[in-house]
Formats: sequence, structure tokens, C-alpha cells
Amino acid sequence: MRSAPHILVLGSLNMDLLLRVPRAPQAGETLIGHSLALLPGGKGGNQAVSCARQGGRVRLLARIGEDADGRALRDALVQDGIALDALQVDPQQPTGRALVMLEDSAQNRIVVLPGANAALQTDDAALAQQLRGAQFFVTQLESPLPVVLQAVAAAHRAGCPVLLNPSPMQPLPDSLWPQVDTLVVNEVEAAAYAGCAVATPGQAAAAGQVLRARGVARVVVTLGAQGAVTVEQGGCRLQPAPQVQAVDTTAAGDTFAGALAVALAQGQSLAQATARGVRAAAVCVTRVGAQVSIPTAAEVDAQPEPPAAQELP
Ligand code: RIB
Repeated sequence: MRSAPHILVLGSLNMDLLLRVPRAPQAGETLIGHSLALLPGGKGGNQAVSCARQGGRVRLLARIGEDADGRALRDALVQDGIALDALQVDPQQPTGRALVMLEDSAQNRIVVLPGANAALQTDDAALAQQLRGAQFFVTQLESPLPVVLQAVAAAHRAGCPVLLNPSPMQPLPDSLWPQVDTLVVNEVEAAAYAGCAVATPGQAAAAGQVLRARGVARVVVTLGAQGAVTVEQGGCRLQPAPQVQAVDTTAAGDTFAGALAVALAQGQSLAQATARGVRAAAVCVTRVGAQVSIPTAAEVDAQPEPPAAQELP
């Protein structure tokens, strides 16, 4: 029987406008698309939903507008049992939106309009209360950086491990890294933050070592269909991903981060938690949409075990 750890997530909520197209148009080209749908998304919301569906007891610190998109996003989170007492409603800014252009090839391109997310605010007293009893703090970079930094510092002070998914990329202060317990980056982010090329598992391990040298306790570099590389004090490993037919990779990284956080909070090793994360993400990519494609714990359990992990030099 797995425990139900308390997780505090700080992050964005967006209504995703999912535009399905045969392929992305070139500059100056007009193209006929397939369909347009409005679906709940945003990296913060997606990671909160992933934590909740993996069995976490989740509280989300986020901000929506006073509009139909905001109400729809809130209703969706309630269905997943996510505590919304820290959800802020902005009287002026609209709820965040993201245009997700999904090609038949399963490639996507995303543009975010932050809206109310950009006005998220907090203070140390509120954070201390929201962090009480939390076993993990999870965040990304679609919220204002000063607020993210303030919350990371509060979690670190409170002894609550921090999982940071620094996406979308932006320059970060050196003081942040030693406050991060688990850093989750994709190959593009790993390359940018570490300052080296990352295409192979060996290069991912090298980038992870660079980031650990800055003070991060453990690093996971996700490599899409190749799986994920873990870098910690005991060494580096590649956890290969199960082979699946991907139709949409939107929210795959968020699904991974949420599943990883819950497994770590349940006391699993980084290797076990990463295996769980790649299994969850493998389900996510076989479905279209962000929050609607995130699997439950039972759906992940029903998947075959992923291939065995390999030690990396
Ligand atoms: O990580 C996927 C998410 O990025 C989408 O749901 C979109 O809202 C953007 O925030």
C-alpha cells in the first residue's frame, strides 16, 4: 500500500487552445487545420494533476482570471481532489492561455500568454502555512521568477525538498541551485543551463554533473523516447523508456515530474521514481491534450515494466 504524501505545487494554469494541423505552416503560408479544442493545461496545473493522479494529496498555489477559462480550470482541478485554498483570482487579468499547435507527426509548438499567472503573489507567512506538512515542493518557471525564488527559499528553510523543473528556460541566480533537491530538465534545458551539448545519455550525464557541482543534490535529464538519465552521488544511470506510438508529447514532462515527486515523497529511490516517471510519461504521449492525457496510478500500474536501467560511466 503506497502512502499519500502531501505535495505543494506552485505554478501556472493555462487554458490550452489545441490547434491540430497536418504540419506547422511556413512563414507567409496559409494552411487548413484539422480542429481546435480548449483543454486545461499550464505546467503548474499539469504537474499538480500528475501528483494527484499518482496518489499525492496536492495543494496548488496559482492564479486565474475571473472568467470562464478560470472557472473551467478550477472545476477540472476540483475533480482531481486538488486543494485550492491557495488559488488566487485576479480581478483584472484574464486566465493564462497557451496556443498548442500539434502536427500529425506528433511534434508540437507552444506559445504561452501568461495573463493572471504573471500577477501571482505570495508572502513568507502564507508560504510557511502552505508548506506545513508538505513532503515535497514542486515548481516550474511559468510563474514570476521572484515568487518562485521566494517559495523555493521558504521550502528549503522549512526542510521541504524542492523539485524544480526550470521550464521555460531563463537565467537563474547561482544561489538557487543549492536549494534544489531534485532538478528535472529536458535535453534542451540541460544543455542551456549546463552550457554543453546534450543529445546522448553520456552527454546528459555530463550536464547533470555540471549542475550537481553547482549544488543541486540530484538531477534527472529527460531524453524523450530515449528515456531519462539520473545523476546523483552514487553515479549516473539511463532509464530507457518503453516503446510507444506517440501522438502528442504535450505535458509528458509534467506527467514525469509529478510521478517522480510522488514516488520520491513515498520514499522510493531516484532510480525507482524515475522508472515510474518514464512509465507515466509513456502513457501520456499516447493521448492528445495536457491534463486530459495524464494517467492515474492504476493506469501506470497496468503498463509493462520499462526496460532495465543501465549504469553510465
Ligand atoms: O508543459 C505543457 C504546458 O505548457 C501546456 O499545457 C501549456 O499550457 C504550457 O504551459
